[in-house]
Amino acid sequence: MNAIYLIGFMGSGKTTIGTELAKKLDLPFFDTDEEIIKSENRPISQIFAEDGEEYFRQAETKALHSLPTENVIVSTGGGIILNEENRSYMKKNGNTFFLYCSPDKLFERLKDDTARPLLSGDKRKEIESRLEVRLPLYKEANHIIDTSDLSIEETVKKITDLL
Ligand code: S3P
Repeated sequence: MNAIYLIGFMGSGKTTIGTELAKKLDLPFFDTDEEIIKSENRPISQIFAEDGEEYFRQAETKALHSLPTENVIVSTGGGIILNEENRSYMKKNGNTFFLYCSPDKLFERLKDDTARPLLSGDKRKEIESRLEVRLPLYKEANHIIDTSDLSIEETVKKITDLL
């Protein structure tokens, strides 16, 4: 089976759902953020602070390309789709699932978050404005799942039903 790529905004549950999906399908699970942290040996906030977003985006593309493209579940960082090359790479090598989540739910989940450098000011505004820019890019996915009112199990089931 081709790779399954989970895409979506920060806080949309990609890592949690990816972990459960991998268990259910008995496949290995990877997370591009974790790959970057391992290869850089420092947290994402530190990468942004020391080297900036552009450097992080290059590391993110490298991490995506370093992962297997067969029989894996890959959770991606929320901004991976900003790069056109990443979008076509994922489409070419796998099945992309956009886990949509409403801005209100995202805000609830992210309001106390301190680990994400792109949400450092007015979180509600930042979520809304970034989501607006990114939505058309996320929507290029093969499948769109509105997870706003779904449990983790329900979301996993929706994905497996679509395979
Ligand atoms: C980012 C999302 C984060 C992480 C980085 C940038 C983004 O990953 O890659 O902080 O641009 O949306 P999650 O989507 O796993 O939070």
